Amino acid sequence: MRVKKAVVPVAGLGTRFLPATKVIPKEMLTVVDRPTIQYIVEEVVGSDIKEVVLVTASGKSAIEDHFDYSFELETFLSQKGKLDLLKEVRHISTLIDVVSVRQKEPLGLGHAVLVTEPVVVDEPFAVVLGDDLVDAEVPCVYQMIKVFEQFRESVVAVQQVPLEDTHRYGIVEGREVAPGVYEVKRLIEKPPPGTTTSNLAIIGRYILRPEIYGCLHRTLPGVGGEIQLTDALDILRKERGLYAYEFTGKRFDAGDKFGYLQATVNYALQHPDLGGIFKEYLKKLVSSF
Ligand code: G1P
Repeated sequence: MRVKKAVVPVAGLGTRFLPATKVIPKEMLTVVDRPTIQYIVEEVVGSDIKEVVLVTASGKSAIEDHFDYSFELETFLSQKGKLDLLKEVRHISTLIDVVSVRQKEPLGLGHAVLVTEPVVVDEPFAVVLGDDLVDAEVPCVYQMIKVFEQFRESVVAVQQVPLEDTHRYGIVEGREVAPGVYEVKRLIEKPPPGTTTSNLAIIGRYILRPEIYGCLHRTLPGVGGEIQLTDALDILRKERGLYAYEFTGKRFDAGDKFGYLQATVNYALQHPDLGGIFKEYLKKLVSSF
């Protein structure tokens, strides 16, 4: 069963970035020269997935437009002979085929995944959360697909975090069965401090078997009164099995102001035109403190 679709929930209001996100979707905020959603889509495309199922809400149409043709802009660039820009703009619209599904009420991440059932139906799929940017030589989703192909059960990406931060994440307790691969024994969404000794935190990448939909139908509201994907995964774990995979790469929480700044610095330092001068600038800045 090949993973051909990626579900990308983008219905959130982005309150952590107000007032910047009053009118602009948070997924359209720029890291260096691309909106954060483009980093997500490039990871998905780099993992051999072309079909993206966006879970949207009102006010999010700029995301769909970003990956669509822009007749006016392309005609303008062509008439002005700005062929490099034209190529860049066209390239974005050829990256993926987009299907949009509306999440009519903000009932949680589990609910956002559940509304994609009519589109995904009965095949394995990736879920990629836009707040988590992962800079990796081999795209994180691609690494996870390899684990899925080996173990044939759903896989969540995890990262070790300081114990004092575990209450901010879904936490996995498990037994290591191969280097970096854990058989999951228990999942807890945002555990209160002191209730788990595990520091394996779920980051926003999942490869899910379609049986997750049946589990989501049976999942009751959890933390924050929301339908939590983590709770549905705990049902899936009991009924089929579940693996956690410690991926290789650097993860940034771009949904948080400090994480967003770190991502900006990271990608700016690697930028072909800006990397060199930006590094020099940072060195001077640091030595002036
Ligand atoms: C969601 C998930 C959580 C996961 C996190 C990763 O939480 O519910 O299990 O650890 O994403 O970013 P959120 O950050 O949306 O509250």
